[in-house]
Amino acid sequence: MADISHSSWETELERISRSAAESVSAAATLESVEEVRVSLLGRKGSLTAMLKALKDLPLEEKRRCGPQANTLRDSLQQALDARRTELERAGTEAALSGARIDLTLPAAPMPRGRLHPITRTIREITGALSQLGFSLADGPLIETERYNFEALNIPAEHPARDMQDTFYLAGTRTPLLLRTHTSPVQVRWMEKHAPPVRIIAPGRVFRHEAVDASHSAVFHQIEGLYVDKRVTMADLKWTLTAFLRKLFGPKTAMRFHPSYFPFTEPSAEVFVSCLLCGGKGCPVCKRSGWIEMLGAGLVNPAVLRNVGYDPERWSGFAFGVGVERIALLRYGIPDIRLLYENDLRFLEQFGP
Ligand code: FA5
Repeated sequence: MADISHSSWETELERISRSAAESVSAAATLESVEEVRVSLLGRKGSLTAMLKALKDLPLEEKRRCGPQANTLRDSLQQALDARRTELERAGTEAALSGARIDLTLPAAPMPRGRLHPITRTIREITGALSQLGFSLADGPLIETERYNFEALNIPAEHPARDMQDTFYLAGTRTPLLLRTHTSPVQVRWMEKHAPPVRIIAPGRVFRHEAVDASHSAVFHQIEGLYVDKRVTMADLKWTLTAFLRKLFGPKTAMRFHPSYFPFTEPSAEVFVSCLLCGGKGCPVCKRSGWIEMLGAGLVNPAVLRNVGYDPERWSGFAFGVGVERIALLRYGIPDIRLLYENDLRFLEQFGP
């Protein structure tokens, strides 16, 4: 087309424009739209050839013809796009109108979530204790030595600090630690509330401890505290018996052992007969037939004094239950570590 004149160039452009409009509207499939595009705008397309030929026109004509050719190219591109969209939409509608929904098919399954056995156990324990009149309290996981030890009558250098190996936070000006038990909540609550007190405080605790079938370094406790007038060991024993029988059934065998906690006096450890082995001895009960469930005792008057209560007027009992130990017994779980592995095959055995 090197010797093309302006007038024949314009005539050619008009011809392309007319025939293109016809081919676009005649294209009945997406493939034929593509064929039309290639024949006009492809590498060897007729309009592409015209655009290439522009460069050989005299400058004057180039100025006039260039914009005409560009406008035609843009409008052809738009027409092709519009036709493509039109055909696609028609195709989807046709596909949908032909589709059938089988109303007799079963619904797609909706997997149900379920509570972790530790959460279930916490709810069961707090449920049983709320029925006995206890209400919920809460405290921080990161504690000061004052709440975790001192106010609980465990001064620095006291050998009782070794009873619970402690994780300290590095780089803090005043020592901060991960609480080793839920007992600091007792102190925090009594500092803010006048007696009588009847609270339970569930939560996570941390100890630098070797892990085995019944010991974990991170586990859960539920603290109980009851302060009123003339509270005695008999009240404690009655409450714990009622609570443990609610959880494990009316025939559950229990043992109260004398024990030592600096914040209670006298103190006791409560054992429940191992339901996993029927008392015969297994790794969970360390072959003894009994599992230690909780520590308890009458609140030491020194602790009452530390929070500003008058020990002549008020007395109380406190206990700290190990949640995981209860879960092991309730559900017949042979190893505490199973509770933390998040193996769905294990977790799916527990109902919603
Ligand atoms: C205490 O932590 C006391 N604060 C409990 C207490 C509260 C006594 C109020 C008196 C008054 P102890 O260290 O024994 O006590 O722990 C209480 C319970 O937590 C144990 O009986 C046991 O059930 C559970 N427990 C202790 N250590 C672990 C562990 N490493 N893994 C899992 N459970 C544990």
